[in-house]
Amino acid sequence: MIAETLVQHDEKRQGEAFYKETKISKPIEGFYYLESYGCAMNFSDSEIVASILENMGFTSTKNVADASLIFLNTCSIRDKAEQTIRQRLADFKTLKKTKPQLKIGILGCMAERLKEQLLAEEKLVDIVVGPDAYRNLPSLIEESEAGNKAVNVILSREETYNDIIPFRLNTNGITAFISIMRGCNNMCSFCVVPFTRGRERSRDIASIVNEASQLFEQGYREITLLGQNVDSYFYVDNETGKSFNFATLLVAVAQISPLLRIRFSTSHPKDITDDVLNAIATYPNICKYIHLPLQSGNNRILQIMNRQYSAEWYLNKVKTIRQYIPDCGISADIICGFCSETELEHQDTLKVMTAVQYDMSYMFYYSERPGTLAARRFKDDIPVEIKKRRLNEVIQLQNQHSLIKNQADIGKSFEVLIEGFSKKSDQYFMGRNSQNKVIIFPVDNLMRAGDYAQVKVNDCTQATLFGTIQ
Ligand code: SAH
Ligand code: SF4
Ligand code: F3S
Repeated sequence: MIAETLVQHDEKRQGEAFYKETKISKPIEGFYYLESYGCAMNFSDSEIVASILENMGFTSTKNVADASLIFLNTCSIRDKAEQTIRQRLADFKTLKKTKPQLKIGILGCMAERLKEQLLAEEKLVDIVVGPDAYRNLPSLIEESEAGNKAVNVILSREETYNDIIPFRLNTNGITAFISIMRGCNNMCSFCVVPFTRGRERSRDIASIVNEASQLFEQGYREITLLGQNVDSYFYVDNETGKSFNFATLLVAVAQISPLLRIRFSTSHPKDITDDVLNAIATYPNICKYIHLPLQSGNNRILQIMNRQYSAEWYLNKVKTIRQYIPDCGISADIICGFCSETELEHQDTLKVMTAVQYDMSYMFYYSERPGTLAARRFKDDIPVEIKKRRLNEVIQLQNQHSLIKNQADIGKSFEVLIEGFSKKSDQYFMGRNSQNKVIIFPVDNLMRAGDYAQVKVNDCTQATLFGTIQ
């Protein structure tokens, strides 16, 4: 608690310089309410936004009725994600009527995709800010307080927010995200991210290692390095001319302390290198877990998705991963019903799933995104009922595999980082093993969140392992 107060105090002090820098005449008093949607990168960005708002003088609230500023950090990845935001905006209608000084802002990918159009479509919205424009929040908020609509959706080739210390929101004090790169150059044909997040750029390695070290000193024990495509991390230090790739970054962060666990997300199968696998195999604190999106198991579909690998190449990559790291947890993203996908091609996805036996997967049916390569080139011609049926088959198969994989862990013992009490009872701890599996086990009074426990698994469901401390 004391540490937390000190950190916040420090951030406020840093704030005094900030008012001068940003030419804000005086600290703003008031509460902001910030809600985040989408991927971990967006949640991580919200902590940058929170840091900027706190430095302006705003205070975070969890009660939307107290807020003078509501921000939704939005996702555009599927149509449903955008519909969720539009419904959420409708919830604020009455609030805005009773509180005319209330400002509502849309941040993130939907802001970037729709730009000024959002202001025309959603009358409630006062501020629209894309993911690379958060440094301009102070002036945009001032502009909106002067009664104008405020928009900044300029994408950057350099912005990494490397000097902004994130203000940790909803933190458990044990696990945290660190953004290591932004944007994506891959242009998978179904994907809106290259349009909403812009060109790929990597963050200064020193600032990443610093942030991780500070988190460790504050008591955090697990960090997840984030990027849309972490394996293409590449940073050149202009002073020394030295270059750093993802494997070197992983090792640099792993060397902070053997007690600090390192995770990362997301890897693109075409880019993950043997050096990365070697680093995982060498450093016990780099977690043995790789999220390796498959998308489809059929080569024609993979080609029109522009994924740049074949099913055989992917399976070979999985084989290599298991050679380096025999007990590696592997998960995937899978899209069902992409343009022109036949039943046989869908079956190929099920076949690859069976060959790999993923520990878990994130599974979706295809949702056409305006402006993407697929939307321009291919017809979204699989009826939604078929997409849903194929998705259901994929989910059923994954559930079977998850159960088989969890059952195989019964009798094994794992090092578990305790994250806190289980959701259901404070008689039980919840933690994860290196493979990212959730394990629930009875509390030991000598242990607490942030400690490592050796836990033997004695039972499981498809989603969770249960065990006891050894
Ligand atoms: N950068 C990551 C994933 C980003 S988006 C990667 O390359 O793996 C997360 C997942 O959403 C994707 O892997 C994909 O499975 C899914 N997705 C992206 N666009 C989609 C779309 N238009 N319809 C359905 N699912 C989509
Ligand atoms: Fe989208 Fe492909 Fe980039 Fe992932 S790698 S963010 S799926 S374009
Ligand atoms: Fe969504 Fe943007 Fe992430 S579209 S998945 S919030 S990068």
